[in-house]
Amino acid sequence: MKIFLDTANLESIRKFNDMGLLDGITTNPSLMSKEGGNPKDAMEEITKIIKGDVSLEVVSTEYSGMMEEGKRLRQYGKNVVVKVPMTPDGLKACKSLSSEGIPVNVTLIFSANQALLAAKSGAKYVSPFIGRLDDVGQDGMKLIEDIKEIFENYPDFKTQILVASIRHPVHVVDAAKIGADVVTLPPAVLDKMLEHPLTKIGLENFLADWDKLKSQNPDIKI
Ligand code: G3P
Repeated sequence: MKIFLDTANLESIRKFNDMGLLDGITTNPSLMSKEGGNPKDAMEEITKIIKGDVSLEVVSTEYSGMMEEGKRLRQYGKNVVVKVPMTPDGLKACKSLSSEGIPVNVTLIFSANQALLAAKSGAKYVSPFIGRLDDVGQDGMKLIEDIKEIFENYPDFKTQILVASIRHPVHVVDAAKIGADVVTLPPAVLDKMLEHPLTKIGLENFLADWDKLKSQNPDIKI
């Protein structure tokens, strides 16, 4: 399973990229807005740091604007995936951009039918938002199971399931068990995945025992 970071925060991107954890990045207008400043600088920097796919989202809502923005966004790098919303114009732009060899991520997917249609339009990724479904009392992970089953029934679909709106580490384990292609994670979720209280206690004990040994043999070194 690929891991993308769902952020436009350069510090977080560098931190996790240096650990070798990142296969790509997803952004959206809300994440850009959260960082402030000029999004152009962030987009330039992110596409330089990350070798894998970087999803950059259009803000136009009609076809021609999406096409113009998509082509401009693609100029940031060959690894740019144009993110379009799950709307009729979004699907039309998805079809045109994909036919021109520009990969597309269709976002704001909340049903299996929407994922099916985005795949038909040639999307490289579909982004079902599972946390937002959980928020309104629907089972977000059930949607991932359904999309996985549908895509497996039709091997001609090459569209990848990119699980978005992930809120906690259990979402990640569940998505991996289902066999989702990608999870996109807020930095805080990736931080939590790294940690376990027994790892922390275990390391403290190792170091305390080493200090005991060192007090008896001050010259020892590893
Ligand atoms: O990529 C966007 C998606 O992950 C949104 O997440 O937490 O705003 O529902 P959230």
